[in-house]
Amino acid sequence: MRTRFHYLPLLLFTLLRQTRPDPDPLQDYCVADNKNEFFINGVPCINPDKASSSNFVTSALSKVGNTSNQFGFSVTATNTLNLPGLNTLGLILVRVDIAANGIVPPHSHPRASEVTTCLKGLLLVGFVDTSNRVFTQNLKPGESFVFPKGLVHFLFNRDSREPALALSGLNSQNPGAQIASLATFATTPPIPDEILKKAFQITAREVEIIRRNLGG
Ligand SMILES: *[C@@H]1O[C@H](CO)[C@@H](O)[C@H](O)[C@H]1NC(C)=O
Repeated sequence: MRTRFHYLPLLLFTLLRQTRPDPDPLQDYCVADNKNEFFINGVPCINPDKASSSNFVTSALSKVGNTSNQFGFSVTATNTLNLPGLNTLGLILVRVDIAANGIVPPHSHPRASEVTTCLKGLLLVGFVDTSNRVFTQNLKPGESFVFPKGLVHFLFNRDSREPALALSGLNSQNPGAQIASLATFATTPPIPDEILKKAFQITAREVEIIRRNLGG
């Protein structure tokens, strides 16, 4: 019996670690050295003596995104390439443009929670918890909504004439994103029909139609 409990502290430590965002920086900053070609967990830093103000500024989010795709949205993010100074700081900012009646389809970020602020337009946003309960909210400019880490969420521009604009902060420098529809029907290589048929309770023909519609 005793030996089983030896593992408890380790188990707790492991579980607690999993709820933490990106590791804390061990120095003031770690300006991304984008010339490196080896892979580590994150991006290596340049010599701090060589850092300059330009490493900490970007205009990446100043341009309107191109929303002419099947969903009608565009996401532009700061990252270690366009804003090398954010490396290891555990956060990014994202510009979300949504065409009239466009959506950011149901998707999740495996490594980050997200707080989004509506800057322009009328948004319907929501997320699904792990018991499939849905939380939705209409957002006007100036209002914010939070999507907890890893949970499926979506944004919809309710306005049928005007584009919408939102700004989101995420607590990882590399949140990752999986769009539910594409992660099932537009994968490389395709997920076997048999699995999609059973999972979605549809026919092979329907699998084919959805695949084609999504460009899979
Ligand atoms: C937006 O993207 C579409 C499809 O990729 C392209 O045809 C169009 O030229 C782009 N528009 C602009 C303004 O870049």
